[in-house]
Amino acid sequence: MNTDRLPLEIQALSPLQRFALLLVSSVITGGYRLLRGNRVWFGPGVIANHRLVIRGPGRVIVGAHADLFAFGGRTCLVARTPQARIIIGENARLNGPLLQADTLIEVGRDCILGQAHILDTEMHSVALDRRTNPEAPVRSAPVILEPNVWVARGAAILPGVRVGEGSVIGYGSVVTSDVPPRAVVAGNPARVIRSLE
Ligand SMILES: CC(C)(COP(=O)(O)OP(=O)(O)OC[C@H]1O[C@@H](n2cnc3c(N)ncnc32)[C@H](O)[C@@H]1OP(=O)(O)O)[C@@H](O)C(=O)NCCC(=O)NCCS
Repeated sequence: MNTDRLPLEIQALSPLQRFALLLVSSVITGGYRLLRGNRVWFGPGVIANHRLVIRGPGRVIVGAHADLFAFGGRTCLVARTPQARIIIGENARLNGPLLQADTLIEVGRDCILGQAHILDTEMHSVALDRRTNPEAPVRSAPVILEPNVWVARGAAILPGVRVGEGSVIGYGSVVTSDVPPRAVVAGNPARVIRSLE
C-alpha cells in the first residue's frame, strides 16, 4: 500500500489499525453508496466511521483520501434540497462538523474542520410573517472554503461567506463576511487578528 497518499493522521497508525480503519471506512461508504445511489460520490481512500451522517435529497461529493472520521459528535452533511450540493475536497479532515446546504457548500482540498457549523441558508425568514407565510423569503447563498482552511471548534460560517486559501477561523468565531487568504480571524463577528506568512 502506498502510504504517502494517506492522510497524515492515518499514516501514524500501525498497519493493523490502518487495515481495520480502511475496512470500516469501506463498509460505511459502501452503505451510503447503496442507500443514496448517485446522490453520493466518494473518491478512493475516503475514511469514515459510524459517526458519519449524510442526509437530504441533494448531492454529496467527497474527494479522494478525505478523512470524515468523527471522534466526538458526528460529521453531518445535510444537502437539504434536491439542488443542494456539498463538495468536500481531497485530503480534507472533518472531525464532527455540521454542514447544512440549500445551494452549495464547498470545502477545498486539505481543509480541517472541527466541530463547527457551516450553513448556506438562514433556514427561516427574517420577515415578521415567517411563521404564517410559507412564501416568506429565506436567504441562502453558497459558502466556499478555499483550500487549506482550518475552521476550529465552535465556529460558525454563515451564508454567502468565502474563506480565502490557508486562513484560520478561531475557536467560537462567527464569520459573517468574506475572509481574505492567509488570515487568522476570531471573535463574534469574526475579525482578522493577524496574517500568516
Ligand atoms: C485561531 C487560533 C489558533 C489563533 O491563535 P494565535 O494566532 O496564536 O492568536 P493569539 O492567541 O496570539 O491571539 C491574538 C488575539 O486574538 C484574540 N483571540 C485569539 N483567539 C480568539 C478566539 N478564538 N476568539 C476571540 N478572540 C481570540 C486573543 O485574545 C488576542 O487578543 P489581544 O491581542 O487583544 O490580546 C486560536 O485562537 C484558537 O482559536 N485556538 C483554538 C484551536 C482549536 O479549537 N482547536 C481544536 C481543534 S479544531
